Amino acid sequence: ANPSLLILAGDGIGPEVMAEVKRIIGWMGAKRGIHFDVSEDLVGGAAYDVHGVPLADATMAKAQAADAVLLGAVGGPKYDKLDFSVKPERGLLRLRKEMDLFSNLRPAQCFDALADFSSLKRDVVAGLDIVIVRELTSGVYFGEPRGIFKEGNERVGINTQRYTESEIARVAKSAFELARKRSNKVCSMEKANVMESGILWRDVVQEVHDRDYPDVELSHMYADNGAMQLVRWPKQFDVIVTDNLFGDVLSDCAAMLTGSLGMLPSASLGAPMANGRPKALYEPVHGSAPDIAGTGKANPIACILSFAMALRYSFDLGDEATRVEKAVEKVLADGLRTADLMGPDGGTPVSTTQMGDAVLAALDES
Ligand code: NAI
Ligand code: MG
Repeated sequence: ANPSLLILAGDGIGPEVMAEVKRIIGWMGAKRGIHFDVSEDLVGGAAYDVHGVPLADATMAKAQAADAVLLGAVGGPKYDKLDFSVKPERGLLRLRKEMDLFSNLRPAQCFDALADFSSLKRDVVAGLDIVIVRELTSGVYFGEPRGIFKEGNERVGINTQRYTESEIARVAKSAFELARKRSNKVCSMEKANVMESGILWRDVVQEVHDRDYPDVELSHMYADNGAMQLVRWPKQFDVIVTDNLFGDVLSDCAAMLTGSLGMLPSASLGAPMANGRPKALYEPVHGSAPDIAGTGKANPIACILSFAMALRYSFDLGDEATRVEKAVEKVLADGLRTADLMGPDGGTPVSTTQMGDAVLAALDES
């Protein structure tokens, strides 16, 4: 059987950028003889409109069974007033939670053609290629107790940072595995100077390293210093592993080193399935961009690069992933830019479809 891919395009620009990925999937079948069993379903507001929930049980079951899930984006102003329990974002949270996707890979890669677009100097970012591995299913976003409570005559808002040893060990392992496929270097970030969970984090990462990955170069850094170092000289890093909260902030910071939200892919990985590969959800980092939805301005590259990550991590098609990445690199080098990749004095931007056309043409030449 062909490997299975579940596509959840979602809301806003989600379906627009996903349309360009579907053309690439078609191209791979026709030109490279690589076929996927693709099925599509609803998530987010689109699912709420039909089912009254942001992710139907049947869709959840399909996601559990698929070799990989590719998601566009969820959310939009139409759904902002909904109860939190049925908000579009809850569809995504349910997928992450029930698939137990504890390891979130956020690459920050700077294509040479876009180095001048970064807010940092060209030589600081040109050729940058790092990955932040963020723990995604635990920590302060989930820890109990949480809530807003009455304390005397005022309210107190409480969240709890909580990590078990096994939660830290499994994300550390996924970072070391990734590092072995790259330049064999991991930097772990926490705040062991002021947080108990940080002390445990540092200990467990070191233990996993010493026991199973002594060949990988490991360093530890306080997360606030990490933020400084990311902006000062990001090329000192290869793989960074950190908790949910620090990872949220640090990966957004690293993302901006490279230019635009429209360029950033991500992968969320869980435990290995029967085929030996991790459960996986791939999605662009950006949201549904209601401000440009329906205008044809969306940059499809983040979604295309997310699909390339799926080729590499879920389908063992690293060469095909590289082919797609090279095609993207070529169209950027040729000067094609969607509106988000242009400065105020830029030329004429291309549309979502025109960017897709150009990537397909570059693939044809590859
Ligand atoms: P956003 O990422 O949707 O947009 C932020 C800004 O970046 C907007 O100006 C947008 O036009 C631009 N942008 C984003 N992706 C782009 C692309 N591919 N090409 C060109 N420009 C792009 O974040 P925002 O505005 O905070 O949230 C909008 C909605 O998306 C909300 O409902 C939010 O909850 C949801 N959201 C969903 C996410 C997901 O599905 N994973 C992640 C972030 C937000
Ligand atoms: Mg964030």
